Formats: sequence, structure tokens, C-alpha cells
Amino acid sequence: MLNFTFYNPTKIVFGKGQLVELDNLVPSNCKVLIIYGGGSVKKTGVLDMVKTQLGTSNREVFEFGGILPNPQFDILMDAVRLVRQQNIDFILAIGGGSVMDGTKFIAITAKNEEFMGREEEVLNFGFAGVPAEKSIPFGTVATLPATGSEMNSGAVISRGDDKLVVMSELNFPQFSILDPELTFTLPPKQVANGVVDTFVHTTEQYVTYPVEARFQDRTAEGILNTLIEIGTKTVEEPENYDVRANLVWCATMALNGLIGAGVPQDWNTHMIGHEITALSGIDHGRTLAIIQPAVWKVRRRQKADKLIQYAERVWGITTGSIDEKIDGAIEETEKFFHSLNVPTRLSDYGLDASFIDKVIANLEKHEMTALSEHGDVTLDISRKILEVAL
Ligand code: NZQ
Ligand code: ZN
Repeated sequence: MLNFTFYNPTKIVFGKGQLVELDNLVPSNCKVLIIYGGGSVKKTGVLDMVKTQLGTSNREVFEFGGILPNPQFDILMDAVRLVRQQNIDFILAIGGGSVMDGTKFIAITAKNEEFMGREEEVLNFGFAGVPAEKSIPFGTVATLPATGSEMNSGAVISRGDDKLVVMSELNFPQFSILDPELTFTLPPKQVANGVVDTFVHTTEQYVTYPVEARFQDRTAEGILNTLIEIGTKTVEEPENYDVRANLVWCATMALNGLIGAGVPQDWNTHMIGHEITALSGIDHGRTLAIIQPAVWKVRRRQKADKLIQYAERVWGITTGSIDEKIDGAIEETEKFFHSLNVPTRLSDYGLDASFIDKVIANLEKHEMTALSEHGDVTLDISRKILEVAL
């Protein structure tokens, strides 16, 4: 097992009706800004439910809506100005990854005067982390199980054709309320995206090379097997509480640091996927279904040991040659994504070889030239992966 530091301060409040806890979780006598997305929270009534809970103590409540999928820097800056003008003391995000990520950017950018007028710089520190020591405290009410943003320190922010990672320990929410019933209103496509995103968060930290990290491997396999068991069911039976509750918890646990501690991590699929979203608008989860199988096809030698373990323990493929096991595992994975109605080729979205040049140019611009758990996926190898994904 590799050395690691594990830190995760987010309090999780899970289950039916847990919005009533908001009054205990959000400080009283403060100015609270509620942040939400394109309006689903109004339609579903969650916004009103939250306001009712916050209204039970002496709080001044403000609202900022309109943070759309792949949250854009310019819109987030409007919220940053509101936070500064009103001296907001606490932020509450209600929504999916885009709203939660946007809130993380707003909380850290608004609080640090050194970024005043140079807010775009917050986007430039990447995985090195934003050099800041304070942010506005925030919590979340998560309405879409997918990104794990409700319990992690990352945010993904878009600026035009750029999709940039903003990391900081200050990005951990103080608390997240995970009520699976609040996700019943999701369109089937978003639920399927969430299953795929959770699946690939897990494989990015598992299908690498063995380091005798048995707990992490077994936990990753547990998440993958759970997703395979419940994936299509939770898409087809949106109000089946038990299957949805399992998706919600898997999504959170797949990217909160637990299964990634002490193991190599890949993220090749995500980095290419982010560029595809930035250039084509394809939903995040769907880009991963296109790229993950192609990564395994191109990197089957480097990943052979873990691909075989994945074939045997996750898909039960215990006979055949090494290549047959690896081929079988890739095929089963693609079938699983298809069972969720998620396509696995660029051409399924009308994209052809000319698109690949654009993705490669963006990867180069963002210095994504040494990807994977070995740091040896060059732009040429990324091109090969994209060609296989056509
Ligand atoms: O905007 P509203 O109207 O709320 O509608 C949203 C949006 O259209 C809708 N929705 C959310 N909850 C709903 C609902 N509709 C009905 N009922 C509900 N309960 O779903 C749509 C998609 O929402 P979005 O937040 O964009 O989806 P997701 O959670 O998949 O987040 C995607 C974003 O997260 C980033 C992605 O790059 C992308 O920008 N990621 C963040 C990560 C992180 N912070 O760790 C890691 C991930 O790998 C990912 O990169
Ligand atoms: Zn993801």
C-alpha cells in the first residue's frame, strides 16, 4: 500500500426527511445565500422546503439561481459579487455537481481579497490547490447522485472551452444532506449519467496496478457490484427508495478519498472526458462511457493485472486466457453502459475524426500530456484512445 493522508471533515446527514436538520446545521442569526441551478428546485418544491426550514430561526435569506450544468465562471462571478455586497456568512447549495462545484468556487473566491479583480487566477492552480486559508462556510443539499462533490474537495469550473479543476481543502462542505427522495424527480438520463460517473470514479482508482491495498480494492469492487445490481433498476424505478439510496451512498463514497487512499490513480478517462464536454457539451457522465472502454483497450498491457482482477471479481469471468478475460471485462462494461441507455462511441453523437484534433489541442493547452497512473499517456496515446472511441 502507498503512503497517504486521509482527511474528510464533511458531516453527512442521510435519509428520508432529513431537511428538518437544516435548522440545526445552518448557524442562526446569519445571512444565508441559497444557491441553485436552472430551476428544478422550484419545480420539485425543494427550494420552498429549504426556505421553510431556514425560516424557523432568525436568518436573513438570499437566493441566487441560474447555475447551469458545467458551471460557467461569468455566472459564478455574479454570485461572488452578491456575496461580497451582502456580506453573506453562510452558503447553502441545493443541486447536483454543477451547483455544488459552483458554490465551492464562489465561497473561496468571495472570501479572499487577494483575488479581488484577479478572480480568474483561482482557476489556474489546478491539482496543486488554491493557496487560500479561508472561505465562506457552506453546506449542500445534494439532489443528484454522481460527482461526490457533496463530500470532496474538488470543483470543476468552466470558462468558455476550458473545463478547469479547482482543488482546496476549503472546498469540503461543512455538511451535506443526502435524502434519496429528493432525487426521485431526476430525469432517467441524469440517473444513468450518475451511475456511470460513480462507476468510472471507482475504476479510475481501481483499474491501475496492484499495490496490495486489499481494503481499497474490496471496497471498490463492492461499489462496482452494487452499481451493477441496482443500475438499471434505479433508472427504471425512480421511486424505489432502497435502490436509489444505494446509488446515493455509492456516489458519495466513490469520490470522497476513501477508496483512493494509498492506491495509484488514473484519471485519464476524466481528463479526456472533460475536454469532450467543453468542446461538445456532451454530459460529463456520458463522456466517460465513451472513453473508459477505449482507455482499457489501448492500455490493456499496463493495466493487465488489475483488468484481470476486475474481470474475475466484478464480472465473474474466471476462465479463459488473459486476453479473453480482459476482452470479456471490457465487453461486459460496455454492455452495462448500454443497459443504461448510455452510448459508448463518439460517432453515436455524430462526432468524427476531425473532432479528435480539437480534443488533442485542448489537452495540450491544459498540459494534459502525461496522464494515467504511470504518467506516461502522451498526446499520441490520448489520440489513439480517441480513435478507438470513434
Ligand atoms: O439545474 P437544474 O434545473 O437544477 O437541473 C439539473 C441539471 O439540468 C438537473 N437536476 C439536478 N437535480 C435534480 C435535477 N432535475 C430534477 N430533479 C432533481 N433532483 O440535472 C441536470 C444536471 O445537473 P448537474 O449538476 O450538471 O449534474 P452532475 O451532478 O452530473 O454534475 C456535473 C458537473 O460536475 C462536474 C462535471 O464536470 C460537471 O461540471 N464534476 C465534479 C466533480 C467533483 N466536484 O468532484 C467530479 C466529477 O468527475 C465531475 O467532473
Ligand atoms: Zn466524474
